[in-house]
Amino acid sequence: MWRSIILFVSVCSFSAYYIYEPLPEQMEQKWKIMLTNSFFRTLSHADFSELVGLQHYMGVMYLITLIEKVVPLSDAHVQVIEESFEGVDVLVYQPQQKADSSDLRRAVVYLHGGGWCLGSPSDPYDLLARKIVKELNAVVLSVDYRLAPPHHFPEPYEDVYRVVKRFLQKEVLAQYSVHPGRVAVSGDSAGGNLAAAVTQQLLNDPEQQVNFKAQGLLYPVMQALDLNTPSYQQNQDMPLLPRTLMVRFWSEYFTSDKKLFSAMMANLHNSPESSTLLKFVNWSAFLPERYHKQYNYSAPVVMQEKSKALDRQWRWIGDPRASPLLVPDSALHALPKTYVLTCEFDVLRDDGVMYVTRLRAAGVDVTHHHYETGFHGAMMFTVWPTDFLIAHLMTDNFVKWLQVSL
Ligand SMILES: *[C@@H]1O[C@H](CO)[C@@H](O)[C@H](O)[C@H]1NC(C)=O
Ligand SMILES: *[C@@H]1O[C@H](CO)[C@@H](O)[C@H](O)[C@H]1NC(C)=O
Repeated sequence: MWRSIILFVSVCSFSAYYIYEPLPEQMEQKWKIMLTNSFFRTLSHADFSELVGLQHYMGVMYLITLIEKVVPLSDAHVQVIEESFEGVDVLVYQPQQKADSSDLRRAVVYLHGGGWCLGSPSDPYDLLARKIVKELNAVVLSVDYRLAPPHHFPEPYEDVYRVVKRFLQKEVLAQYSVHPGRVAVSGDSAGGNLAAAVTQQLLNDPEQQVNFKAQGLLYPVMQALDLNTPSYQQNQDMPLLPRTLMVRFWSEYFTSDKKLFSAMMANLHNSPESSTLLKFVNWSAFLPERYHKQYNYSAPVVMQEKSKALDRQWRWIGDPRASPLLVPDSALHALPKTYVLTCEFDVLRDDGVMYVTRLRAAGVDVTHHHYETGFHGAMMFTVWPTDFLIAHLMTDNFVKWLQVSL
């Protein structure tokens, strides 16, 4: 009897000890965040990932997301079909009711998040896609781009670019009854990074006839040059996306060589080439004063001695297709109407806020929703038992923006 009580109390206190983590006062539904996070934290634990090796670590994370993978089915309102565009799998969501020829639809190309290493168009993105189809009577194209590792940059980006080029052809849009002037691209986290990158690159393509009318960037990843912005510092231990995990995603996007991970952890990954681009991520210039005043700006250290092993990766670190913040203002002014969602408790807050500042300075029409109690990835959690009030609010506000902007 006593033994069971002691055991019970030990298990409870161990669980509470393990699950409990101090969270900022302003965050809502703290225990629920801690419980959700403890699951992810177990996986991203440094010792665990060292033990199994980085490559396998991503493999394990990937398996977890596969468990959630269900093949999305058509329902009474939404028809879902799997297709292959230029060799890349996509899910096409369309309203069941046929469009009449005089009434073309809007469309959203959606790119899921997961640090370029994880995720798929299924749950929870499936729910978001259905909501957009129903509320906008629109078509949603959800792209199952290839993931790192094994597919490092630029493969995931190129998959997305090929799909977008194919979809934006007038004949292809016509097959789905989509109006060529009313197509948006959107994505969250690494998907927001891909969305911002393809939107920029399409404008450089002289043959491109149809461009996006709008882009929706949900807590996007925007730059790999400075991984010590005030939000990286303030939120380095925040739930779901601690700094270590974001650095892991960045380094895995380019290479599985651990040297890049270590260099990025120390923010010692800039080379003389990338150093000329540091002016585009200068947070003392592009963040509102309230964000940078407690932090003293110093530009990341530039490593003069290049390691041969990282030569190729070094070239990519400054590539705007991986870091869309690294383009001059002249490449920004023609961008379409933009929605940016940022969260206070997110290492990527300043990536999004800096892009907002730069886009507005270039004259782009930007809607910026900043959630003072939000955390990275929150929008994925709309289903019981891991559902958050703020996830519903974010989703509703984003869909409302699409409704009026597209
Ligand atoms: C960053 O911006 C500040 C002014 O806001 C300026 O003094 C500094 O030289 C800039 N540094 C870089 C590396 O661009
Ligand atoms: C920033 O610099 C000021 C003045 O040099 C110093 O008092 C303060 O502690 C520094 N803050 C940080 C976060 O390093």
